[in-house]
Amino acid sequence: MLTALALLAVGLSPGTDVLERHECFRCHVYVTQAQHSDDLRCAECHRRLSAGLMDEKVNQYTPAVWERFKRRTAEHFTRMPPLIGLGRLRASWLQRFLAAPYDLRPHLSESMIRNRLTRADVKALSELWGAQRDERPPPSPSAERLATAKKVFDEQGCTGCHGVTKPAALPQYLAPDLRHTRDRMNFSAVVDYVTDSHRVNPASEMPTVPRPPETVQLLAEHVYFGDHGVTQVRAAPVPPPYDAKAPVPKYEEVEARVFKAVCWHCHSNPDFANGNGGPGMSGGFGYPERGLSFASFDEVMNGSLDAHGRRQSIFRKGQSGEPVLLEVMRARWSEEAGGLHGALVGMPLGLPGVSAEDYALVERWVKGGRPRPRGEPVADGLTTPNRVEKSVKKKWPTGE
Ligand code: HEC
Ligand code: HEC
Ligand code: HEC
Ligand code: HEC
Repeated sequence: MLTALALLAVGLSPGTDVLERHECFRCHVYVTQAQHSDDLRCAECHRRLSAGLMDEKVNQYTPAVWERFKRRTAEHFTRMPPLIGLGRLRASWLQRFLAAPYDLRPHLSESMIRNRLTRADVKALSELWGAQRDERPPPSPSAERLATAKKVFDEQGCTGCHGVTKPAALPQYLAPDLRHTRDRMNFSAVVDYVTDSHRVNPASEMPTVPRPPETVQLLAEHVYFGDHGVTQVRAAPVPPPYDAKAPVPKYEEVEARVFKAVCWHCHSNPDFANGNGGPGMSGGFGYPERGLSFASFDEVMNGSLDAHGRRQSIFRKGQSGEPVLLEVMRARWSEEAGGLHGALVGMPLGLPGVSAEDYALVERWVKGGRPRPRGEPVADGLTTPNRVEKSVKKKWPTGE
């Protein structure tokens, strides 16, 4: 009875409830995580599959398809920072970051996703993680002292992870760019972390080396006050201006290069993908069901669901007057360049934006009449009934 009550109390922790409701477990590991099917966990399936830990399933596929699965799943979501040890961060930074995520780790091409967390949700998470209140930073050290601090930082091997140009091992991928640390952490927390990161973060990938307090102090001063150079942000690509006379590409090419290369994995047919069409279709990551599938031409034409559950075309005009499909891809570029955090969510969510060439390809197809696979143009986006095609149940989409 007592145990049941205790469990109930754990289950009711508001922070844990936020993590579960917003499905943070699909990408991150955390201590209070409930049991979830690996079919939902993007990071777990990609990590296990690419590392050869699922090879018993190879018999369901041809060896060539299985090799492609291993190669493709290695591209993303195999190295995610765990949501553990976040008591080192400031609650005020968490509010800012989760409202408008930006790039923290130079060698991770994925980013934290735009999300639907409210201020109250983030407050609950800060409490769960024990995030800190803002402390006043100490005065900035002299230039001479900072020069010594930089020397110590280089000598102590910190640049072996923070600042490598060619990452090879997990800790190098997961090492944050320390230029952001003064925004994320209090000075005293940096001192504690450099002293013994494992005391703060049992999942720390950083080696704990005993050091005299003065060395730790100098290291923390370099992290906090040192010159880390200018923040490099990826400039938004500039696609060529739309040329109405350029040939209209085939749907097959648009599908192979964009829709099925990246979009489909979150916007797929649930009949096809073990009952869950992904966050952009069945709902997920805290987003409601949007019913948008990129699994076939007809499903793309079938559009998405609006806030009232009514079907709408993804070619409708958006805020900028451009079709929404094009607008969301441009919004992702702006997000990556550190801009635009309005209501429009950039696509592909949390992944690198499409190339200028791929964007131009989709644009020519959209504005060139959106020819269907066999070539007949369609006038508007809502020509097919409000349903998704039934298809053969398969373990994973093969892309063939
Ligand atoms: C689709 C995958 C994905 C989902 C779902 C996701 N995240 Fe993230 N998150 C990331 C990635 C990738 C990073 C690393 C970003 C970076 O370092 O630039 C990240 C980073 C973070 C960080 C910073 C951690 C650190 O050590 O720097 C926090 C906090 C965070 N996520 C919270 C959440 C919460 C809360 C949820 C659920 C609402 C969530 N994430 C859902 C992909 C995801
Ligand atoms: C059950 C295993 C499994 C799960 C769960 C899973 N994937 Fe994948 N994913 C795959 C396989 C297999 C491929 C390669 C498909 C192919 O080659 O056609 C893939 C490929 C991808 C790709 C294209 C390659 C790349 O990395 O750019 C993206 C994007 C992707 N998945 C995103 C996701 C997201 C987001 C989730 C969670 C919502 C997810 N996946 C969940 C197995 C999975
Ligand atoms: C083996 C790789 C590695 C080395 C070497 C390393 N770090 Fe780290 N460091 C990490 C990783 C990974 C993280 C992310 C959290 C974790 O795993 O502890 C991190 C986090 C940090 C943080 C927290 C920053 C934040 O914004 O979250 C500080 C401060 C830090 N390191 C300072 C140092 C200093 C100073 C040195 C040199 C004495 C150093 N690190 C050496 C891998 C490394
Ligand atoms: C990691 C998962 C993920 C990936 C990958 C992804 N999406 Fe999305 N997409 C979502 C989610 C979640 C929503 C719902 C957002 C919302 O409700 O504001 C969404 C919404 C959309 C919408 C808005 C629908 C509307 O009518 O307003 C469009 C359009 C869209 N996605 C297109 C794309 C395209 C194009 C790609 C590939 C370049 C892509 N998505 C890749 C998850 C994803």
